[in-house]
Amino acid sequence: MEKIKYVPIKTLFEKAEEYIGKKVDVKGWVRSRRGNKYVQFVALNDGSTIKSLQIVFDLAKFSDDDLKDITTGSSIHVQGQLVESQGKGQTIEVQAEELEVYGTSDPETYPLQKKGHSLEFLREKAHLRPRTNTFAAVLRIRHALAYAIHKFFNDKGFYYFHTPLITASDCEGAGAQFQVTTLPLNDLPTDKAGNIDYSKDFFGKMASLTVSGQLEGELGATALGCIYTFGPTFRAENSNTPRHLSEFWMIEPEMAFYEIEDNMDLAEEFIKYCINYALEHCKDDIEFLAEHFDKELPARLKFVVDNDFVRLPYSEGIKILEQSGKKFEFPVYWGVDLASEHERYLVEDHFKKPVILTDYPKEIKAFYMKLNEDGKTVRAMDVLFPKIGEIIGGSQREENFDKLRTRMEELGLEGMEWYLDTRRFGTVPHSGFGLGFERLVLFVTGMQNIRDVIPFPRYPKNCEY
Ligand code: 4AD
Ligand code: MG
Repeated sequence: MEKIKYVPIKTLFEKAEEYIGKKVDVKGWVRSRRGNKYVQFVALNDGSTIKSLQIVFDLAKFSDDDLKDITTGSSIHVQGQLVESQGKGQTIEVQAEELEVYGTSDPETYPLQKKGHSLEFLREKAHLRPRTNTFAAVLRIRHALAYAIHKFFNDKGFYYFHTPLITASDCEGAGAQFQVTTLPLNDLPTDKAGNIDYSKDFFGKMASLTVSGQLEGELGATALGCIYTFGPTFRAENSNTPRHLSEFWMIEPEMAFYEIEDNMDLAEEFIKYCINYALEHCKDDIEFLAEHFDKELPARLKFVVDNDFVRLPYSEGIKILEQSGKKFEFPVYWGVDLASEHERYLVEDHFKKPVILTDYPKEIKAFYMKLNEDGKTVRAMDVLFPKIGEIIGGSQREENFDKLRTRMEELGLEGMEWYLDTRRFGTVPHSGFGLGFERLVLFVTGMQNIRDVIPFPRYPKNCEY
């Protein structure tokens, strides 16, 4: 074959005028093939865009034998002239002149033969599902959102701060950590009292995968001003729901000198920015997902970016739920940790808008949140979204050394003098929050299950690939 510079199919569509009439070089995976005894049409996709490029094989030029390996899933390299398409449904096509088959794909055994495989079936084939239109669309949107997040914070002067994945502390205090050890599990060293002797372990103490980068993030914020983390976090809770993963990515901004109102303003601006970015840059993919799964998706996304979020204290939220007359599966009373059905009632039925719920009872929130004057509630804020429930959790932090230490003692938290040093030396008011990245991707793609918005999901009893 002639040496012609290969351009992604996305570029051919975007700059069609530039390439029409020219010989182009395309490569990709065959999505489908149809035709008659005069001509064969192949839909070729290279992952750069949801759009497949039509390749036309004239059977006066190519024999059946030349084309025998062009089956769904095979990979090919084609050169030919790019022309305006006569057919319906596409704008451009390639009149094939030369063909090279990179790799065949046996139609008997290739799992993605049929269109319209269920998402459950594809979850069993997660190693191949990025080759479907649906998952490729989700993954491109996921990429765009990750980029938007870095851009948003960089443009605001925040510093990307790397916090450790292996840690000896438990940020959320929920005891849902995965332990990291190199001790021989069938022959554990013990001390005189019979307890496991962690001094013999790799780090000389008990260590785990992090559930959140926040505590270390606070060290960054009380030095650099405004920081954010963006990395994987791990939770060993046995939650088999469409909104929980055992390994998920979290974005955690932490800001010195921010009070709770500033924190809420930032959260709202941030999440709207990300959704807007996807609306602007992922049009084709969002349209595809809307057409195939969720007709209301574009309107829902627009609605969220165009409307102010409701801001409401937890106690008011409880009153609304109690007066709703609705039969909830889990009872509602002041002090209860809200279930997803409660959150969604407030958002979807009552306000019909995203809600930022604030000032939760201290008993149901983490130790580091700032205590309110009433001594009962803390300056927490959860952002609740339609279809998702909690998408962001955050708070103003307790900056008072004595109050924080008392609370930590009450909860039996030890060995965190390094954390208390932020309050011991030059303490400042500060705030932050955590956005669950996959919950954002879930919202923007309109998918129903969080396991479908991360390439290789981790959940109880599942650790493939
Ligand atoms: O509310 P969470 O537990 O808050 C924290 O971890 C704080 N340290 C954040 C901070 O203030 N810096 O978790 C934050 C968000 C949730 O709102 C949710 O979107 C997501 O992380 N999340 C999960 N996403 C997927 N699977 C899970 N198991 C999740 N648990 C929390
Ligand atoms: Mg939370």
